[in-house]
Amino acid sequence: MTKTILRALAGETLPTPPIWMMRQAGRYLPEYKATRAQAGDFLSLCYNPELAAEVTLQPIRRYGFDGAILFADILLLPQALGADLWFVTGEGPRLSTITSEADFAALRPVHAIDDTLAPIYETIRILRRELPAETTLIGFAGAPWTVATYMIAGQGTPDQGPAHALKDGNRALFEQLLGKITEGTIEYLSRQIEAGAEVVKLFDSWAGSLSGADFERYAKEPARVITEALKRRHPGIPVIAFPRQAGQGYVGFHAATGADCVAVDDSVTPEWAAEHVQVSGCVQGNLASSHMVTGGAELVAETRRVVQAFSEGPHIFNLGHGITPDADPANVQLMIDTVRGA
Ligand code: CP3
Repeated sequence: MTKTILRALAGETLPTPPIWMMRQAGRYLPEYKATRAQAGDFLSLCYNPELAAEVTLQPIRRYGFDGAILFADILLLPQALGADLWFVTGEGPRLSTITSEADFAALRPVHAIDDTLAPIYETIRILRRELPAETTLIGFAGAPWTVATYMIAGQGTPDQGPAHALKDGNRALFEQLLGKITEGTIEYLSRQIEAGAEVVKLFDSWAGSLSGADFERYAKEPARVITEALKRRHPGIPVIAFPRQAGQGYVGFHAATGADCVAVDDSVTPEWAAEHVQVSGCVQGNLASSHMVTGGAELVAETRRVVQAFSEGPHIFNLGHGITPDADPANVQLMIDTVRGA
């Protein structure tokens, strides 16, 4: 097995960690902005296999990352389940909301998702033909809790208030919705793997707002159910779980879910994560994405710190969260050169 990301996921400690970056295809790159303009808008780009493959490949050509992440979005699954979805420029996603039994009943059955998502599988097939032999193709989906927060509120929310309100006010409906998203995610990721995704990642961006028993039931348990189902259907498929801002919740996450790798954000130090999370398996992370804006000696020092802290075990270098549109592409190169020791 030559692909370094797959080696790290199999538990190998490598002399230089493989590297990729969340949101590596994105608005900080002029070539991304050009292709997005050609597509018309973000969703048209997601559903155009040729152009989605093109933007996936752009950061691979420019930087030679070890991993390519499928260009798509976690909100395509709700759309495939029947939610209306649109993006307001400068603000973010908007969806029709699910707050009543009637809203839930109007969703489409899980088996219907491929009618909408077939172009995404085509993007993956193109990428498997066009990616360099050493580059690992990463598929992904949102974790059920994070997807539910958008489906319930109809938009991003600072504190996920509407989702908490439904969870606490009508737990039966909330759990039905989470169950449906969980089933849909298993089908969606299975299709991605059949099309050629070599790893899948579950983005639980809002896991940090769940605590205590809710974290167990709505972050850990769905990740466990999805991982188990995928590994049953596709033996050996590696899974990366990203319960962002989980803090102490990161401890034991590998064992509780069966994930091969736990991605950590930068609200924890790499030294803490090495001691408490990497002891249980591969970790991914966790340079603060702000360094891609500020650069300089601090970027170099903090990059070295992350590499050093995780050097005793399996590690995939990444940011703690997605790169932002105001990042300088030259800082990305500086981070890569620093990781690779140039
Ligand atoms: O990482 C990658 O390069 C792969 C593609 C990818 C996108 N979104 C493209 C995108 C991935 C893996 C995602 C995941 C995603 N999408 C998450 C989880 C990760 C995280 O960031 O916490 C979430 C919560 C979403 C939902 C979403 N999509 C939001 C809230 C927004 C608006 C905020 C923003 O950055 O504009 C998006 C839009 C989006 N998804 C963009 C991209 C490149 C920007 C769209 C544009 O070009 O205008």
